[in-house]
This record gives sequence, C-alpha cells and structure tokens, in this order.
Amino acid sequence: MIRTILLFLVFVVTGTTQVHAQIPPARRDGFVYPQGRRVDPDTILIEAFFDPVCPDSRDAWSPLKKAVEHYGSRVALLLHLLPLPYHDNAYVTSRALHIVNTHNSTATFILLEGFFEHQAMFYNAQTQLLSRPAVVDRIIKLGEATLGNSYQHVLKSGFTDTKSDSATRVSFKYSASRGVYGTPTFYVNGFVLSDAPSDFGGWRKVIDPLVQSHEGEIKDNLVSSI
Ligand SMILES: *[C@@H]1O[C@H](CO)[C@@H](O)[C@H](O)[C@H]1NC(C)=O
Repeated sequence: MIRTILLFLVFVVTGTTQVHAQIPPARRDGFVYPQGRRVDPDTILIEAFFDPVCPDSRDAWSPLKKAVEHYGSRVALLLHLLPLPYHDNAYVTSRALHIVNTHNSTATFILLEGFFEHQAMFYNAQTQLLSRPAVVDRIIKLGEATLGNSYQHVLKSGFTDTKSDSATRVSFKYSASRGVYGTPTFYVNGFVLSDAPSDFGGWRKVIDPLVQSHEGEIKDNLVSSI
C-alpha cells in the first residue's frame, strides 16, 4: 500500500514537472514591435528586456514606444521577457503574454500595457495572501477587460497548455544567456546601453547619431557613383 502511494507520488511529482524548454528553440525569442516590422541589416534594432511587474520597466515603456514610433521603419523593437525571481508574479504574467502572443501578436503589447497600468494588483505585498489560481484569475480578468471577452478562453486554456510554459522558460533562459540580470535592460544593434535612456530625449541622443551616420553612408555612395 505504502509502495503504491509512493509510486503514485513519484508519478504526480514527475508528471507535473515534465515541461522542457527546447534549447535552442525552433523560433527566436522576443516580441517584435510594432507588429510586422521587418528587421533587415539596415534596421536599427533595439532589444528591451522587461519584467511585466517591474515598475522601472513600466516607466521605461512609454518613452521607448514613442521613440520606436518616431523613427518609423528605421527602428524595430524586439522585446524579451526576464521574469525576475524576487517578483512573485513575474513568471505567471510573462506566461500570459506568451499565451496571448500565440493568439494575436498585437494583443501582446495591449496586455503588457494592461499589466503596467494595473501593476499594483500583482505586486508581492498585494498578492501575498492569494493562491496561485486566484492570481491567474486576476490575470484572466485583466485580459478580458483589456482585450475582450474572447480572451477569457484563450488565457484559461493557455495556462493549462505546457507550450506557454516552455516559451516562458525559453525567454528566461535567453535573457540569462545574454547576461541580463535586471530590468529594464536595453541593447542597440547588439550592444548594451550602460546608461539606459529614461525619456524620449534620451532615446533621441542614442538613435539620432545612428540614423545620421546611415544617411552619411548613402551620401558617400552618391558621391562615389558620380
Ligand atoms: C489582433 O488584435 C488586435 C488588437 O486587439 C485587433 O485589432 C486585430 O483585429 C486582431 N487580429 C486578429 C487576426 O484577430
């Protein structure tokens, strides 16, 4: 009898931990903003590492978004998630973004903005007495409120699907593999910004010279072709 119970326990324990993040993943990590923006060799690529429940990521989003929109097709954003272990709900909110992204990649950023706007609902202190299902329920309600009723089903089924768990693990592993340990962290064309811009002016200081140096290259080509 005891053996049967033990075997059952072993089965339950291993059964619930059998999620593998396939490394390397079949698709590169990250959400492109705006949706559909092409990334070719001339595109200035900003990579941002965010945690959905990090106040500094929240504050960084609006100036970053404004900068990406300002430069149009010259700039693309690739957003990576780094769920920080000391934020109790970082992983589960990151997973919700992956779930929604599989369904509709535009919705990802709408939900991200929803998390930023209602971030306090997911802070450690505000959720310390809540069970995990209660937190997931809050996320589903927020998803419904920001994206529409159809997302109740999308999120509910997404949280029972191990694929979203794997994708979130891949995000964490990817960020860790880049040596990122805090959010927000920014890379531009593959190089880390040690002095992260905190406003739109800060982004212009970083990006303007890159856009101009590219224009200079175009002028040189004209001169050499004369
Ligand atoms: C994706 O979501 C956006 C924002 O909610 C919506 O405008 C768009 O129609 C959706 N696309 C599809 C294919 O459902």
